[in-house]
Amino acid sequence: MSLPGYNRYLSNDSDEENDSIEILQRPHYKYHRYSLDLPGIMTKEQQTQIGVAGPKLIVAMVGLPARGKSYIVKKLRRYLTWLQYETKIFNVGNLRRNTAQLIKNGTAPNNHSHSFFDPNNEYAKNVRDQLAMDSLDELIYWLKTGGRVGIHDATNSTIARRKKILERCQRENNFKVLFIESICDDKEVLESNMRLKLSGPDYKNVDPEEALDDFRRRVANYERAYETIGEEEEKTDVEYCKLINVGKKIIAHNIKGYLSGQCIFYLMNLNLIDRQIWLTRHGESADNVSGRIGGDSSLSEKGRKFAACLSRFVHAQKMLFRQKQLENYREKIGSSTPPPEPPERNFLVWTSMLKRTIETVESLDPKEFDIMHIRFLNEIYAGRCEGKTYQEIEQSYPEEFNARKNNKLYYRYPGMGGESYLDVIHRVNPLIIELERMTDNILVVTHRVVLRIILAYFLDVEKEKVPDMDVPLHTLYCLQPKAYGSELTKWKYDDEQDQFFQIE
Ligand code: F6P
Repeated sequence: MSLPGYNRYLSNDSDEENDSIEILQRPHYKYHRYSLDLPGIMTKEQQTQIGVAGPKLIVAMVGLPARGKSYIVKKLRRYLTWLQYETKIFNVGNLRRNTAQLIKNGTAPNNHSHSFFDPNNEYAKNVRDQLAMDSLDELIYWLKTGGRVGIHDATNSTIARRKKILERCQRENNFKVLFIESICDDKEVLESNMRLKLSGPDYKNVDPEEALDDFRRRVANYERAYETIGEEEEKTDVEYCKLINVGKKIIAHNIKGYLSGQCIFYLMNLNLIDRQIWLTRHGESADNVSGRIGGDSSLSEKGRKFAACLSRFVHAQKMLFRQKQLENYREKIGSSTPPPEPPERNFLVWTSMLKRTIETVESLDPKEFDIMHIRFLNEIYAGRCEGKTYQEIEQSYPEEFNARKNNKLYYRYPGMGGESYLDVIHRVNPLIIELERMTDNILVVTHRVVLRIILAYFLDVEKEKVPDMDVPLHTLYCLQPKAYGSELTKWKYDDEQDQFFQIE
């Protein structure tokens, strides 16, 4: 799927000098809409109407406590936000805690211990249902005032509750509901999810043993009333997806629409394996030295020195990772009869198709690293501005220069093939999915814009900040995806000492 090209011939159909302004003014283009439901992939005139196409989406979570719902919703929000869909989570647990003061004055327990979740506790059940509906009202209000995807983060674990949700949403125009149920029977994952809860807001300052016992009882209470999503919902064509054991098995029903499909495709590619994603720009190039953008120049002398050191450094890091992997394995097995050693993790290397990234990995041993060159990792294509300095662009195309300065994220370069940051986001999207799916370690050698965009995804950078993120040459980033987000370490190459130093 070559998304950025969908409307290229609309806004960038000529390579003649100085025709970009004219293109903007051609009236018949205003009536064309050549787009999937993708923010920013529209004609130049429509680029500012980000995220308004298509119905609003409500993602309603389903599942027992400690089944990874919060992990799923946080990842989904980050991904959709990165794709430029305004997305927000409405967490019913937070609303419950915030309104605890009100409950205190009623007959229900005010401390939210396990008995508050007892399905036979009529009063508490009504309070919990009311909180879920209040949170849904808040979500709907937010969607009506500009949001695009609202995520209802609750257990929604009975048929009756889900019916109520659907009834409420059906009162609105052009709203779609997608239920996502998370099921998990992997003992190790469940145990670690349970332990994570102990450091959460419900058990602040509570003795860990006591907290664990209370939480287990809470789960047991939910289990007594739990009805998995299925036949009942299918009678009324409800859209739903069941994710079993972190996407190992997926059941999808009646999924309609691009956005719902994207959500599910994304979620089925997640994994919890400990691994490293190394990211960097290419070594300094001849065009970097002369301040020219784009192009396909080779590395400078300095760039080649960086490349050689990078290869040594990455090799050493690969060894270190293996050493730690074996240490962990030995620690786990203790003195019992050892199972076979875990195999060494593959180490992939991806570059763009441009000389400067390919030359950066030239001294890596292809027997040791699985090296691939991918066009999706190419630098933003500056169309008619390729090969120019920023000063030359300002002089030759002052309107373009200012338009970019005013809205760098949405601005698309004029001329055949010119791209915007948004175009690059959609071009890089399949690679993000692949980075989420893989369990190997990887080094990605790419360019300024693509690096900003990849880092923005993993570090959840606000969209306004993405085009100006500071990502200097000769700097290496290491991301380690964790359940709560990505851990980042940063390394800087010192040219004089010909070595990398950790700076963060
Ligand atoms: O100058 C190096 C470079 O990678 C160019 O090829 C590219 O056009 C530019 O950086 C992108 O940075 P910005 O979006 O800040 O202009």
